Amino acid sequence: RNVELRNLTLNSQLSTFNSQFSILNSQLSILNSQLSTFNFQLEMNILFICLGNICRSPMAETIMNKLLEERGLSKQFVIDSAGLEAYHEGERADARMRAHAARHGYNITHISRPMRREDWDKWDLIVCMDAQNRRALSNRAPSAEHFKKVTLATNYCDKHCLADCVPDPYYGGEEGFEYVIDLLEDACAGLIDSIIKGDS
Ligand code: 4NP
Repeated sequence: RNVELRNLTLNSQLSTFNSQFSILNSQLSILNSQLSTFNFQLEMNILFICLGNICRSPMAETIMNKLLEERGLSKQFVIDSAGLEAYHEGERADARMRAHAARHGYNITHISRPMRREDWDKWDLIVCMDAQNRRALSNRAPSAEHFKKVTLATNYCDKHCLADCVPDPYYGGEEGFEYVIDLLEDACAGLIDSIIKGDS
């Protein structure tokens, strides 16, 4: 009888252990699927666009890369920039933009290039600077589906929530370059947050 009793106890302990193990396994599989969704959402290619690709979009690319690095997210993103026009193809960013960037701790290394047809397929998100950029992109988009990738940088601003464009600083004064940096720091931080939340 004693042996029977011990067997019974052992059996019930084993079944408790088994059921706990199966609960643990199912929790683990939920966690795994959540983790893979998270990773999937964070694999993103983003192209910044402006007119000449020597002021605003290379600044946006540089700020975005720095923010991603600070947040340990660099491996989940590919970032680049391009211009709607090829006026400055092969050139470094505008010297004034680079000087202002340096004062804020940024080093712009990008070499200007025009946007190409293949960019429309390669990038998940195409972030432009103003309504003129957006109109030019809508005229050039190979399809309506491609144009759905286009968004305005200022859509992601939080501090500058009333701004509706990143104004071209090329023909203006020093304050224009400072404003570009301030706007783009705000926009890039908001863009990362919106991607992590799954909104973009
Ligand atoms: P970006 O600024 O579009 O921010 O690079 C400009 C740079 C060059 C010219 C216009 C805007 N441009 O006429 O040469």
